[in-house]
Amino acid sequence: MRDGLTLEVLVAADYDQVRKLWAAAGLPIKPNGRDSRAQFTQQIAIGTQTILGLRDGKRLIGVVVTTHDGRKGWINRLAIHPDYQRRGLARQLITAAEETLRQQGMTIIAALIEDWNKPSLALFQEAGYIVHDDIHYLTKRDSHDV
Ligand SMILES: CC(C)(COP(=O)(O)OP(=O)(O)OC[C@H]1O[C@@H](n2cnc3c(N)ncnc32)[C@H](O)[C@@H]1OP(=O)(O)O)[C@@H](O)C(=O)NCCC(=O)NCCS
Repeated sequence: MRDGLTLEVLVAADYDQVRKLWAAAGLPIKPNGRDSRAQFTQQIAIGTQTILGLRDGKRLIGVVVTTHDGRKGWINRLAIHPDYQRRGLARQLITAAEETLRQQGMTIIAALIEDWNKPSLALFQEAGYIVHDDIHYLTKRDSHDV
């Protein structure tokens, strides 16, 4: 990693720092649902999720969550602290996430990006991802919190 930054696989004990970083970057959080401490811990324990963190010294300044369902890999919850944006760090985290997923046997990698998130759309397209305008995102939730 450039600028003396270090990349590591995060663990359940990093939960508070990850939450803080997501908040600082402005990512919406489901504190009582899939972003709760319990679910974060559980998701890591299952083994289909790998969370990569980028640190400047001890400070967590970047995070990305990779998951796979056995068929397809997903890049989720990518965030770079505002103090460190536009230095190519998200691009590096995407590359690291792709390497992780390929090592897990995934040959297709996808990301869900909301239409308003132009920086993220630009980032992923710059990284070689293709936008599909013929796909709709459908969900069914047990509650608004999840
Ligand atoms: C989206 C985000 C992760 C980008 O992080 P970053 O480290 O600043 O991105 P990079 O420096 O690696 O950018 C690489 C390329 O992506 C595009 N890009 C990144 N941020 C952009 C922005 N704000 N506006 C337009 N293009 C942008 C550019 O093409 C950029 O290359 P350039 O700087 O040479 O023009 C960061 O803005 C962030 O954390 N946003 C809030 C959380 C979020 O929305 N995450 C994505 C969820 S899907």
